[in-house]
Amino acid sequence: MNTQANTQSKPKILVARAIFPEALAKLEESFEVRSNQADHIFTPVELQKELAGVVGVLTTGSEKIDANALSQAKDLKVVANISVGYNNFDVPAITAAGVMATNTPDVLTDTTADFGFALLMATARRITESEHWIRAGKWEKWSIVNNPLGMDLHHSTIGIIGMGRIGQGIAKRALGFGMNVIYCNRRRLSEADEKACAAKYVSKEELLRMADHVVLVLPYTTENHHTIAAKEIALMKPTATLVNIARGGIVDDLALAQALKNKTIFAAGLDVFEGEPGVNPELLKLSNVVLAPHIASSTDKTSRAMVDLAIENLRQALAGKKPPSLINAEVFKA
Ligand code: DGY
Repeated sequence: MNTQANTQSKPKILVARAIFPEALAKLEESFEVRSNQADHIFTPVELQKELAGVVGVLTTGSEKIDANALSQAKDLKVVANISVGYNNFDVPAITAAGVMATNTPDVLTDTTADFGFALLMATARRITESEHWIRAGKWEKWSIVNNPLGMDLHHSTIGIIGMGRIGQGIAKRALGFGMNVIYCNRRRLSEADEKACAAKYVSKEELLRMADHVVLVLPYTTENHHTIAAKEIALMKPTATLVNIARGGIVDDLALAQALKNKTIFAAGLDVFEGEPGVNPELLKLSNVVLAPHIASSTDKTSRAMVDLAIENLRQALAGKKPPSLINAEVFKA
């Protein structure tokens, strides 16, 4: 068969960031793939150009898909995010363009909940700070008073803000530690779900006052911007910890840095940051914050599962079928 004719007959897609080579090779069997294995983050102008002439695109949180990005994308049928969060999507603009938008829920729930719990433990028990202490040659002797004294998790109260799949996963892990679970969420859970997590629904203010450990797992929206700022931190116990595995922008990072410096709260664990990969320099100066580079879902197995689900979403949409995790159902025409 003539390769050129074969290539021409394949639908064109864009893979906007690097993916696993095996996944890319599979895609190349069915599509003419414009890929970005250099993993360069496109500027808005580059993205607009790259989207021209393709019928589908695999994106990550670094590609903002809005009316501007879509202005030359006349053939586009689907934008498939390799991420459960999709605050990089302007969903009304994507819907107005008649394009299907998809994300990758479920496959990362347990991995992300595991990480949330790990970050909470590292924060409360000062694990990274202790390691830095050893590496700096500061460990001279075991001491009952001078060891880095942490805060207990077991039998304490965990307050989860955002009780979706991942929040519920964290609550279930907390039960194994005998923790008392309180939560707040846009919508109260069903009685059965509350029972499964042994979780009590409270207001955000109550949660902040009562919790020994606050974990943020809510999606980023305009309304959720700075859900935790100076006013909210002031309500927390001085012994409390704060963990953000949600999104940068949910926490006012500068206000948090000031609170950590002033010991308004005990410690924080952050996997996401305002303006990441930039990190507020005030946070970098502090020892009572554990920093991670947005890795909550990043295990080998789960990252592959996310790519596979995004590809499945893209394939189904381009085959005229309903993708498994379609965000804007109104665009789908059976
Ligand atoms: C997600 O899936 O939302 C992760 O945070 C990666 O973006």
